[in-house]
Amino acid sequence: MIITTCGNSIPIAKALARKLHAPYSPVTISQFPDGDIYLKYNTAVKGKKVVIVHSFQPHSNQSLFNLMFAAETAQDLGAQKVILVAPYLAYMRQDTRFHPGEAISSRIMAKHLNVCFDKIITVDPHLHRYKSLRDIFTIPAVKLTANVLIAEYIQKHFKNEVIIGPDGESFQWAENIAQHIQVQATVLKKTRYSSRHVRVKMIKPISIQGKNVVIVDDIISTGHTIAEAAKQARAMGAKSITAIGVHGLLVEKAMAKLRRAGVNKIITTNCIQHPTNRIDITPLLAKELKKER
Ligand code: R5P
Repeated sequence: MIITTCGNSIPIAKALARKLHAPYSPVTISQFPDGDIYLKYNTAVKGKKVVIVHSFQPHSNQSLFNLMFAAETAQDLGAQKVILVAPYLAYMRQDTRFHPGEAISSRIMAKHLNVCFDKIITVDPHLHRYKSLRDIFTIPAVKLTANVLIAEYIQKHFKNEVIIGPDGESFQWAENIAQHIQVQATVLKKTRYSSRHVRVKMIKPISIQGKNVVIVDDIISTGHTIAEAAKQARAMGAKSITAIGVHGLLVEKAMAKLRRAGVNKIITTNCIQHPTNRIDITPLLAKELKKER
């Protein structure tokens, strides 16, 4: 087995190589003067299992393209198996045609990965309208979850806490985590008007007065979803508000927006590298990859 990356997730790739006692060798990727991609393996991959560790952030579109080139090249060079470890899988939120004429990006992404990879491993992919990764992937696709790691983090760092999921889909994180640590949880109802305009409403009220509120979601992108939930928690008398995201995209000044909405702390896993990373998902990936040894 060799561990490589196309440039994102380097710390995770190196940690996995150490844990699995496998060589780490990143591919060289650059551009010709006209912008065409240049890609080169710096180690022999013939007969090897090539594990490409690479989250789709930053630069999701370039990541897809680089990964396709890296996987096809590994196959072309005689790799025995090419595995994608993408802690964050992009495009999953566009899982239907919301308006006539739109691309269903998740299907297109999966179609391309199906052709060049033998297997994909990812963490908490955004499964909303799809029931499972099998709805779009024809290659073996493994879904890992950071739920237990997040639950353990909350248990260690909080007292007198309640969990809020900011929208319907977040029940798979919020309620599962709350159950694990035996605390109260509620999931809000979200109405999305655009990618930057959402409203949330508490349908199943729980007591928040004086509590340490932990809002848990899979993705924190622009921060609007969590900000709306935080405003509501603040208005209901929360003592403190923490946002925990599996995938901290944190684009468009999301951090400042969250702070303005009353969020005291922002915590993410290292699925996407960010200064807010506090929860390490490497053990999940290492355990899964050991099955390939
Ligand atoms: C979508 O339903 C996801 O679970 C997140 O709630 C959403 O992607 C967060 O996006 P934003 O931070 O831009 O509101």
